[in-house]
Amino acid sequence: MPIVSAPHALVDSDVYVDLRPHLGRDIYLKCEGFNFGGSAKMRVAAAMVAAAERDGSLRPDTVLVESSSGNLGLALSIVAANKGVAFTCVTDRRCNATTMQAMIALGTDVIVIEEPDPVDGLLGARKARVQQLCRRDPRFLWLNQYENPANWMAHYEGTAPAIAKRFPALDALFIGAGTCGTLMGCARYFKENAVAPRIVAVDVIGSANLGGKTGPRMIPGLGSTVPARALDLSLVDETVQVSEEDTIRICRALAATGFLFGGSTGTVLGGALRWLDRHDTDRSLRSVVIAPDLGDRYMDTVYNDDWVLENFGPRAVQAAAWPE
Ligand SMILES: Cc1ncc(COP(=O)(O)O)c(C=O)c1O
Repeated sequence: MPIVSAPHALVDSDVYVDLRPHLGRDIYLKCEGFNFGGSAKMRVAAAMVAAAERDGSLRPDTVLVESSSGNLGLALSIVAANKGVAFTCVTDRRCNATTMQAMIALGTDVIVIEEPDPVDGLLGARKARVQQLCRRDPRFLWLNQYENPANWMAHYEGTAPAIAKRFPALDALFIGAGTCGTLMGCARYFKENAVAPRIVAVDVIGSANLGGKTGPRMIPGLGSTVPARALDLSLVDETVQVSEEDTIRICRALAATGFLFGGSTGTVLGGALRWLDRHDTDRSLRSVVIAPDLGDRYMDTVYNDDWVLENFGPRAVQAAAWPE
């Protein structure tokens, strides 16, 4: 492991979980949770702040502001604290308590949105609040992860080449779709490569990113009430949507093997298993699933029986098992 003097100097852990012993498939989880922000958003926070420094928009009196379901907010809190820059995070009621407390401990001003916008949901209400802050005070600078090219570039320059180096002959890469920074960065990188894996986008049912009806979603990370601004589906080979109930079941099946991952890892792995069931009948394909964070922040939700029972019913809390 490296010696670091800034928390955001550590972004790529190069840790993979080999799931062959559990699934009988050549499938690996790329673990993005081993850094000080505990998620893939650490590299995005570092890249967006570096871009603002480069283009001169980050000045000594700047107050950074961002809308986040939690992980980017925490990562930006870390970068901002390290650089002595003020930061306001606009999150919503789905953000877990530990993440919120960690942001506050790092000196961030946290605003929690309780009421969704009638059309654009909680995300729309969060963005509206950010825009209001920027209108009222010119010191506020919205990094805007939804449209900032530094978001997908962080994955184009970091995540994707790391995977290509570790797995030079990869058949399929499964990526979750939230802001679509991870998806677009990896898709663009591999489309430029002579040998490219199938790029499979995975999202949760109820999100607008990959089409279908929008509906309530309980697990933060993936999904969007309106299609992500950064999403270009022409760069994606296949799409899969997974229910939150299956997400929970897969997270719990992983936990039964000793690996506690975050909710979106369950969704993306669920999508991968469904896709591989159809396209890898002889179990010869090698694939990587990007796992954006670890499970410690999901103890009150995905891994809490009462919460799961209340929101998804008894089937979702049954003994952990991989899908048939
Ligand atoms: C846990 C988790 N998973 C997945 C994602 C989606 O990643 P992206 O925004 O790059 O689409 C996020 C984004 O916040 C996240 O926090």
